[in-house]
Amino acid sequence: MTLRQITLRVNGQDYTGQAEVRKTLADFIREDCGLTGTHLGCEHGVCGACTILMNGEAVRSCLLFAVQAEGTELMTVEGLADGDQLHPIQQAYWEHHALQCGFCTPGFLMTTYDFLRDTPHPSEREIREGLAGNLCRCTGYQNIVKAVAAAAKTLSAGARLEPAWAVRQRTAAGPAHPPARAAGAATAAGEDGSLPSRRPRRSTQARRTKKNPTARKAPGRQRRPKR
Ligand code: FES
Ligand code: FES
Repeated sequence: MTLRQITLRVNGQDYTGQAEVRKTLADFIREDCGLTGTHLGCEHGVCGACTILMNGEAVRSCLLFAVQAEGTELMTVEGLADGDQLHPIQQAYWEHHALQCGFCTPGFLMTTYDFLRDTPHPSEREIREGLAGNLCRCTGYQNIVKAVAAAAKTLSAGARLEPAWAVRQRTAAGPAHPPARAAGAATAAGEDGSLPSRRPRRSTQARRTKKNPTARKAPGRQRRPKR
């Protein structure tokens, strides 16, 4: 078994851990970082439940090895809310009953985040196309579409897409308040709760870079026939 040391940043916190080279990023996030909000459904890139953001781009974490994420900045579903305060996208899903069992929801939320950043005023057709790579076995999709449209409206009215902790890190204007990390998480910098000094940069988050050659558009961004 070949182990590699991996250091990456998840939801504004640095994580360092050892991972077997064939370990998927999804498993590393769940088992080593202790962030179990990222779900695993198909484990071969079909369902979208494992969608996270890597350097700002939606990716399927079941299709990446953990070692491929070395040095990247990730955001998982745990990075959306600010304590008890739901992110506007989460709030819209809640208000429009866009989930039933909720298994698919983390992936939908992260895909929605990426989609609305790039398409702030989407039509219904664009929403359906943008989320077409995420599968839900419960809802029939109609309320998910409504929720995304509502979230777009809220964001257009001035709500902030960027999570509150990221804003605080970027502006260094507020108290340290990174998202909670589950007990038993891998060795992490900032154990005292202090904010990491590195600032997330939108310009590098929004596109693939040399630093992040493995980032790719999630299949959810691909066009599929309207449901
Ligand atoms: S678990 Fe289904 S796409 Fe990753
Ligand atoms: S809410 Fe159950 S799979 Fe989507």
